[in-house]
Amino acid sequence: MSSAVAAPTLLNDYEAAFAGSKARLELSQQSLAGGLAHDGRYIKPFPIQIDRADGAHKWDVDGHELIDYAIGHGSLILGHNNPAITAAMHAQLDKGTHYSAGHEGEILWAQQVQKLIPSAELVRFTGSGTESNLLAMRLARAYTGKPSVLKFEGHFHGWSDYLIKGEKPPFEAPGAPGVPDDVMRTVAALPPDDMGAVEERLAQGDVAVILVEPSGGSWSMIPLAEGTLASLRDLATKYGAVLLFDEVITGFRWAPGGAQERFGITPDLTTMAKIVAGGMPGGAVAGKAEIMEYLLFKDEPGWNAKKVIHPGTYNANPLAAIAGYTCLTQCEDPAVQQTCDRLAATLRAGLNTVLETRGIDGACWGESSVFHLILGEKVSNRTAGDLRAPEGVAPATLKASGRAGVATPMHLAMALEGVDLFNGGGLLSTRHTDEDIAFTLKAFDNALTRLVDSGYL
Ligand SMILES: Cc1ncc(COP(=O)(O)O)c(C=O)c1O
Repeated sequence: MSSAVAAPTLLNDYEAAFAGSKARLELSQQSLAGGLAHDGRYIKPFPIQIDRADGAHKWDVDGHELIDYAIGHGSLILGHNNPAITAAMHAQLDKGTHYSAGHEGEILWAQQVQKLIPSAELVRFTGSGTESNLLAMRLARAYTGKPSVLKFEGHFHGWSDYLIKGEKPPFEAPGAPGVPDDVMRTVAALPPDDMGAVEERLAQGDVAVILVEPSGGSWSMIPLAEGTLASLRDLATKYGAVLLFDEVITGFRWAPGGAQERFGITPDLTTMAKIVAGGMPGGAVAGKAEIMEYLLFKDEPGWNAKKVIHPGTYNANPLAAIAGYTCLTQCEDPAVQQTCDRLAATLRAGLNTVLETRGIDGACWGESSVFHLILGEKVSNRTAGDLRAPEGVAPATLKASGRAGVATPMHLAMALEGVDLFNGGGLLSTRHTDEDIAFTLKAFDNALTRLVDSGYL
């Protein structure tokens, strides 16, 4: 998170309360690079170490109970330890965890993806969201015969060489350490609100795929303007590019059929991970049969030179398959998404009301069942209610809001109050309750007091 150093009072309170986590970090740093497994889990002075989780709560090594808004980086829409998923995985464990062969679970899982996701004529499973986007780009290039990728500033698609371009501010940075310039040159990262620039780039004729988070960058942190997805659909068709929705977060969350169902726009390809695998490692690419068919083995002369290569030891791993299938059978019921959406809307409105009442600059916003928070910035359309798109704040500032400014002190203050935020906001599950929301609003009020007392606000 932010490199801002917390002021003494807050920092002392945090270090005292989470002493066990601090000790664990010192131990883990001797073996794990940086004491971490994921850049997003970094926070100053140290992140909290968790001992166990259940429902929408988790318990740290010092015994604190925290409301979990990270909820498996968004993958656990049914909460921790969903009984049906856990039982299915236990049963699978007794039957073996890797057959190096096809199995019933992968067929059931693929059928369920096909049933729910409008664009899913055929499905291929992968190991993660990053891998899903790599495969989808390769398919799009093979299908169109074109080399380039068009993506959007602030949109996150995993950590591959291709897709980190333009993800973090400064969006126009031409390179990234360890990534060859030749790779960077194959990707255009454009502002998502400039369809003129998108069309101009497409008119050059070399774009294989338009890749977009249909929620707007980082699960609605940078909301898309009305009509953007429809424009992209039209432009992709007009210029012969594949339209790819990255539904790693939005899949099965924005609606049973993801953002494409919610907004009624069908992409050519869809990438998934997180919820699709029921909280286990796994991902999927799905889409039009005529594109997915590039994965097929065929006897046609010359086909070997066209076939898209895709191995992967853990693709459709039996444990992930049964967890994913069991999860998706529950996500088929729109009550799942409606419950989470309602809780998130109540939380967003409540957080804005607290800010409004206290007269503190900032806002909470988001779409579907997620929320984002920014403090210390004037959001011109903030009211004491729910907010989808904050106005008056630059996209780069919105994108940095989870990690810059007061974000880290807020994270520490909320942890002290019993709430674990994720990138300055969070995601809801069916296991969060109205009591959790009420607790969070009180915690937020107390956390603001801590920030004021420590001189941050
Ligand atoms: C929209 C989006 N795409 C892709 C990814 C990458 O997925 P993974 O972490 O499984 O590689 C993420 C991860 O958070 C994501 O949010």
